[in-house]
Amino acid sequence: MTVRLLHLLGSPVLRQKSAPVTQVDDAVRQLVDDLFETMRAAKGVGLAANQIGVARRVAVVDIGEEDPPPLVLINPVIVERGDEDETAEEGCLSIPDIFGDVTRPLRVVVEALDQEGKRSRIEAHGYKARAIQHEIDHLDGILFLDHLSAVKRSLLLSKWKKSRKGQTGYLKEVTPEPAGEL
Ligand code: NI
Repeated sequence: MTVRLLHLLGSPVLRQKSAPVTQVDDAVRQLVDDLFETMRAAKGVGLAANQIGVARRVAVVDIGEEDPPPLVLINPVIVERGDEDETAEEGCLSIPDIFGDVTRPLRVVVEALDQEGKRSRIEAHGYKARAIQHEIDHLDGILFLDHLSAVKRSLLLSKWKKSRKGQTGYLKEVTPEPAGEL
């Protein structure tokens, strides 16, 4: 497993519609492992393949110990959306330190392949449903900023540009803190 470089806002691959996986093989399993490794190092709850520069429809979600096991989503499709919406704050590993309130369905049902190529149906509520929708958006080149009003989005974008002042490029090395550090 390898901690990969994160692609930040501005990287064209984040705006690309990712291609479906045609066969779940060792290369795809390697990609899944790298996604988990990178997500955990970055202390995220989800990560899509294009965030590490691979435009394929693969994502992982792990919202924490209270809801195991971690999810592997290969070619995921939302097959059902609940009527009720919920608004809550979101952030994104590709847009560090920027947060905004996003309204999404509270409940979704998703069909996806796992790392063995087995199709599964996942019903999710609340935070988990939100994380799944956020990651599937990534596979379609959509960022949480796109769900905000134009005014709010331009506000956050100018905040982002200010925070990036003096920095070039859009690749970020993830440097996990050593365990036990206070
Ligand atoms: Ni994200």
